[in-house]
Amino acid sequence: MKLVIMGDLHYHDVDPGIPGLLVARNLFYGNLLGRFLQTEGDLHISLGDLTNTGSATELREVSEMLRRRNRTFIHVLGNHDLYTRTKREVLEITGQQQYHMLDAGSSILVFLDTAREMELSNGGGWLDEEQLEWLEAIVLASGTKPVIIFAHHPVHNTTIGSDRVKGSLHPEVPIWNILKQKQGTGIYFNGHAHADSIVTQQNWTFIQVSACLDQPAYRVVELEKNRFQMTTIDVTDAGVVTHIPMLKRHILYYNSNPDARGKDADRQIDISLRPNRRLQKID
Ligand SMILES: [Fe+2]
Repeated sequence: MKLVIMGDLHYHDVDPGIPGLLVARNLFYGNLLGRFLQTEGDLHISLGDLTNTGSATELREVSEMLRRRNRTFIHVLGNHDLYTRTKREVLEITGQQQYHMLDAGSSILVFLDTAREMELSNGGGWLDEEQLEWLEAIVLASGTKPVIIFAHHPVHNTTIGSDRVKGSLHPEVPIWNILKQKQGTGIYFNGHAHADSIVTQQNWTFIQVSACLDQPAYRVVELEKNRFQMTTIDVTDAGVVTHIPMLKRHILYYNSNPDARGKDADRQIDISLRPNRRLQKID
């Protein structure tokens, strides 16, 4: 199975009165999403903040662009996607599910909703009791089969920036009570912090993907029975990168991160998915 994954896209409405801005916006996102979608994959995934404010025009336009190729696209909700409307309203426009899982044969894929609804002053993440119970049941049922989680917010105190206030799932969300029950390998993808980072804690690998306006790129994951291999594809086309300075001058609610790009070890990883021999029962 092959997965193609993007970080925070922040597709945004622009003031058409500013000379050149609308053209720059359309070229940047059109060319970047063109590259993303032309990459073969079984699933194309957004780690949230697909849009900048979750306005109807942002959600409709980016959904339309993503439908230009016949790809299976999955969007997990980010806090920016929910700035101006409810989850129900956003999901109605995008046609996505709030949270769900997919049995990919040799691995279980889990898509979480960690975002709060219409809380502009609190972009931090949360998981309610119902979703935690749902996640726990999946982790327990997975046994030694690898579980790969896709979420917008990082787990607190894992990847770079996840220790900041509102930079992660709230520290009181008891997600480790669930993660620590996983036998075998767990992998957790997230956006939100706008910086590349890979951190391993216990049997979980946390992979954080930077935002596309800071580092135009996407991840490609080759998922085999016993192996997970992730690489980063940089998008260096002039039709993408030349428009970034202008977009950043005018975008609202977006903090550019000059340190978004990580080292190679923050952008590529190879993980064995063989069940840990220590966990196998020895008679
Ligand atoms: Fe973001």
